[in-house]
Amino acid sequence: MRKDIIDYLCEEVEYRCKLPTNHFGIGCFYHIQAVVKNAEMLAESYDADQEVVIIAAWLHDIASVTNYELYEDHHIHGAEIAEDMLQKFGYPPDKIKHVQKCIRNHRGSVLNSKTTIEEICVADADAISHFDNVPSLLYLAYVNKGLSIDEGREFVKNKLTRSFEKLSDNSKLLYMKKFDQVMNILV
Ligand SMILES: [Fe+2]
Ligand SMILES: [Fe+2]
Repeated sequence: MRKDIIDYLCEEVEYRCKLPTNHFGIGCFYHIQAVVKNAEMLAESYDADQEVVIIAAWLHDIASVTNYELYEDHHIHGAEIAEDMLQKFGYPPDKIKHVQKCIRNHRGSVLNSKTTIEEICVADADAISHFDNVPSLLYLAYVNKGLSIDEGREFVKNKLTRSFEKLSDNSKLLYMKKFDQVMNILV
């Protein structure tokens, strides 16, 4: 495991998230941390390459936090930023390509076919990350959007349901209990 790279990414991503130029605010760092945690867990469950998965998870939204203008195609720009960063560490070219694939295919809204288990780990971890950050969804509903209690509850439940539905079939089974627990609180 390239601890030097992972330590660097953790620090660098936090630094970029905290910059005033980061349109998404510090919540983005919590999101990325949650993706890394879930991606690591999924990589272990699926016997995937943990190093590739963890590095890709740290970098999957790097373009969005670096420059808001890159948001729309952040999966493509992020893969380019990742290549630059990882080359500086002398990371093997085949592994860089694999990390790039994970970044390019992490978005449920962009229909790219995932061909490796590592890509599925990162995409599923991204989709499930809302479940580690329900308070920020409630904040979005009640504070940012100013919704009523009923509207806010439906908004959050819909968002969580859509996230869950994006998961691969295997990951749905892994997260079923967590999904039920969170939804039961929002009755
Ligand atoms: Fe993303
Ligand atoms: Fe993300």
